[in-house]
Amino acid sequence: AKIRHYKWEVRYEYKSPDCFKKLVITINGRTPGPTVLAQQGDTVVVELKNSLLTENVAIHWHGIRQIGSPWSDGTEGVTQCPIVPGDTFKYEFVVDRPGTYLYHAHYGMQREAGLYGSIRVALPEGKSEPFFYDYDRSIILNDWYHKSTYEQAVGLSLPSSNFVWVGEPQSLLIQGKGRFDCATPSLEPGVCNATSPECSPYAVTVVPGKTYRLRISSLTALSALSFQIEGHNMTVVEADGHYVEPFVLKNLFIYSGETYSVLIEANQDPSRNYWMTTNVVSRNATKSAPPGVAFLNYYPNHPQRSPPTVLPAGPAWNDDKARLNQSLAIKAHRDFIHTPPQLPDRVMVFLNTQNQIDGRKRWSVNNVSYTLPHTPYLIALKQNLTNAFDQTPPPDGYDFVNYDIYKVQNNTNATSSDGIYRLQFNITVDIILQNANTMQLNDSETHPWHLHGHDFWVLGYGKGKFDMYNDPKKYNLVNPIMKNTVPVHKFGWTALRFRADNPGVWAFHCHIESHFYMGMGVVFAEGIDMVGNLPSSIMGCGETKGVVHRP
Ligand code: C2O
Ligand code: CU
Repeated sequence: AKIRHYKWEVRYEYKSPDCFKKLVITINGRTPGPTVLAQQGDTVVVELKNSLLTENVAIHWHGIRQIGSPWSDGTEGVTQCPIVPGDTFKYEFVVDRPGTYLYHAHYGMQREAGLYGSIRVALPEGKSEPFFYDYDRSIILNDWYHKSTYEQAVGLSLPSSNFVWVGEPQSLLIQGKGRFDCATPSLEPGVCNATSPECSPYAVTVVPGKTYRLRISSLTALSALSFQIEGHNMTVVEADGHYVEPFVLKNLFIYSGETYSVLIEANQDPSRNYWMTTNVVSRNATKSAPPGVAFLNYYPNHPQRSPPTVLPAGPAWNDDKARLNQSLAIKAHRDFIHTPPQLPDRVMVFLNTQNQIDGRKRWSVNNVSYTLPHTPYLIALKQNLTNAFDQTPPPDGYDFVNYDIYKVQNNTNATSSDGIYRLQFNITVDIILQNANTMQLNDSETHPWHLHGHDFWVLGYGKGKFDMYNDPKKYNLVNPIMKNTVPVHKFGWTALRFRADNPGVWAFHCHIESHFYMGMGVVFAEGIDMVGNLPSSIMGCGETKGVVHRP
């Protein structure tokens, strides 16, 4: 195994990813940032210099479990203090599994300012994947806003009467490139340049006859997406770093925080290029950004030559059934099944709701809206700083019997808390994520939930209210896929299972940036006594200021 050393500098720069010029956060001058390339078993070291001048930073390695290095998870408030301007912080962790992963900012709503990228972990020399391909490409999908993250965050925090929702994105980006319509009235002169090379569509060049592995991931702030390639089928072979029993799709639904590998064959008429598009689903796409566009470029055609066809339409945004069906179709590859423990030791049901708390709009789990503490839990728990956060754990369930998930509820008992769930080490935990009506009539949203520090088995999805007695009988305990991010469909439930076998403190939250910011998350702690000595570099904030590091 090797050590992969990276030196990154994070700064603000003017960029025009969708032709509209705004301040974005770059790594070494780029957004998306550099791809981390490693082999299974390697140690990745990233020395991160914060040159944002007036803003803190922290980077999370999404999908990497951080076994033995929980302080490198990069979750501000949970595993570390923020990295202040001028400081350099060293992340160091082992990539123990092959697959496709991500990294992104985990401080405030900073991710959507452009601080993100891919991690690609290859198999060790001499080992091969259970599928064949000639070449490998990474594509990150994103939605893009022109407002700064501060304007957005402030709007979300205002009292309900003045609440400003972030709204729909201005454009969709494919590998950092999108197209905003510069003819939009009321733009200041000079901010939008339709001919800027920065916003020319991303092109994936293919050689006719070859097979390509496209590693497609989503880091949207809000949108659920569909991705498709004109005239080409996609065979799904990997999801969140786990091999999938292959199946073929025309369009791939993908939620923020998910990664997939699909295989495509360059087997169409090679005299032209083809559209690759992404469009918004689940939310009303007619009110959202137009499709994001890229080119599948057949060599030797010019990479920027437009396909001769009209832009193909994506699937209907409101076809919820098609999305549920895709979720149900994803199973573990037959030769790579990790059989889950057959019974849980602890079962938690997490009701997802929108609430009104202290005059503010919030999202909650079992009527508790999550707030980040000033002292990171990892340090507080290790050093026994019991004043650092609410010692009362949030509830394991809600009022299943009486709660009507199809009604607008008052949830008058909702509160805010930075309390956490303590899990007995090594137990098997079941989580049932229960979706419900928002504060608007006949409205429920799709939420992609992401777990740090673990992969979980996806045991099932269902519509309506989870039935504690009958639904567990329908769990897939034979070949469930393991993932780290999973959608909870509208008015539906998703059941997952994991082993609390990774000493540390781990966030579990909706990957929609504004939802997590508004409280849609929880935190698990397990095996704290087994956590090694904390590096002093993660300390310095909240109650950890005076703590002396004892080796
Ligand atoms: Cu990719 Cu806590 O998130
Ligand atoms: Cu959400």
